[in-house]
Amino acid sequence: MKRIKIKDLLASGEIGAKVTVKGWVRTFRSNRFIALNDGSTINNIQAVVDFENTDEDLLKRLTTSAAVSIDGTVVESQGKGQRIEITVDTLEILGDADPDEYPLQPKKHSLEFLREKAHLRPRTQTMSAVYRVRNALAYGIHKFFNEKGFMYMHTPIITGSDAEGAGEMFKVTNVDLKNPPLTEEGEIDFKEDFFGKAVNLSVSGQLEAEVGAMSMGEVYTFGPTFRAENSNTTRHLAEFWMIEPEMAFYDLDDNMDLAEEMIKYLIDFAMEQCPDDLAFLDQRYAQEQKSKPQNERSDLGLLDRLKFVSDNNFERLTYTEAIDVLKRSKPFKKGKFKYPVDWGIDLQSEHERYLVEKEFKKPVILTDYPKDIKSFYMKQNDDGKTVRAMDVLFPGIGEIIGGSQREDSLEKLTTRMDEMGVPHEELWWYLELRKFGTAPHSGFGLGFERIVLFVSGMSNIRDVIPFPRAPKSADF
Ligand code: 4AD
Ligand code: MG
Repeated sequence: MKRIKIKDLLASGEIGAKVTVKGWVRTFRSNRFIALNDGSTINNIQAVVDFENTDEDLLKRLTTSAAVSIDGTVVESQGKGQRIEITVDTLEILGDADPDEYPLQPKKHSLEFLREKAHLRPRTQTMSAVYRVRNALAYGIHKFFNEKGFMYMHTPIITGSDAEGAGEMFKVTNVDLKNPPLTEEGEIDFKEDFFGKAVNLSVSGQLEAEVGAMSMGEVYTFGPTFRAENSNTTRHLAEFWMIEPEMAFYDLDDNMDLAEEMIKYLIDFAMEQCPDDLAFLDQRYAQEQKSKPQNERSDLGLLDRLKFVSDNNFERLTYTEAIDVLKRSKPFKKGKFKYPVDWGIDLQSEHERYLVEKEFKKPVILTDYPKDIKSFYMKQNDDGKTVRAMDVLFPGIGEIIGGSQREDSLEKLTTRMDEMGVPHEELWWYLELRKFGTAPHSGFGLGFERIVLFVSGMSNIRDVIPFPRAPKSADF
């Protein structure tokens, strides 16, 4: 008999049908009821065992997380909340899970505990729901851009350039670090290295995506990126996935329109693809809110919040206007911001969250930041002080997208690189894009795990990626 996935069985299983299901036991109770899950859905199929006619030793092996194969008959369910169940005809244990050793019990474990069990945590309802939502969002990204005629472009993971000019890169080398070849100055001589020079793991595919935009018109990347910043927060990973569209002939307004449209599309797509998972996560979120102090609770439930973001325009204002708003705010006047507000500061998450959660109560797009706190490649405004940058800020998250219109004048770009100490040599090809057929263009980067965080309502970024990498943490 051909196996049917539990999701399909629950949706369309006909009474009387003979079926085979395989999966892992969630629970086995009253020596009779197996709740079986195979990862295709958050829901279990209930399989009812005729215990009087089943070998007792076999029943004992029906422990949480044992892998089983069941041939059975679909019948109407007596229990509430489920349409069907199956009565077991034959039962085979494919793999035992000794309950004295198996670390996850059918009770609630803390997310911290589950992080130490990254190989087993997807067997829990919460984590499997998050992973399915993550998958739907990844699929949604490809669907959104392909429907718009964007080309998916693969940019390198090993790179010789620092795309953000921030110097937060992991080096990739095959020199023997215990006994490295040295230059006359006593530094490691990377000429002896595999690539003949020092290379890094990419912090962003943007610069290469610009090559794509300046030839194919509209492209996007979607790949892993790496940051060696020592940020031990609930929003940062050392390895995260980023979506970076890059478009020729787009100005900053076009860029903002695309970012807003994309996020709304992704939220709608996840709600359409994962209604059961999101209903479960909505309840989890509500529970979690209850355990928070009153002033930190979200006004809306998870699903209401997703609908709200999808249905309402994002607030758009300049950095300079945002500084004015912050200076007029109560926390500023009462000296309650930890980090003082003044034109020129890099906004801290307390400021971003004030704007989004207290002032505007919706996602906010800030534009035209001071040039000194932004990357070398952003297009300069005529005021000589600001650049055509945009950050999209989200409730509970802070920055979810960073982007800009790009500097398309060769002269302005090289001057800015000199001012910021960005070497020309390794970016000669990037500069040539401005020399041969330069054109206005724009793009942005969406942190994939940050949108997964928002949509799933989880509160720590380490719980939305299967194998998180963070400072002092790469155990799996
Ligand atoms: O603002 P960032 O650094 O921008 C860039 O890398 C540009 N090159 C993007 C572009 O214009 N093509 O990063 C973009 C987004 C952030 O808004 C955030 O969502 C996410 O990437 N991000 C991180 N996510 C998880 N962990 C980290 N350490 C992250 N750093 C950035
Ligand atoms: Mg940024």
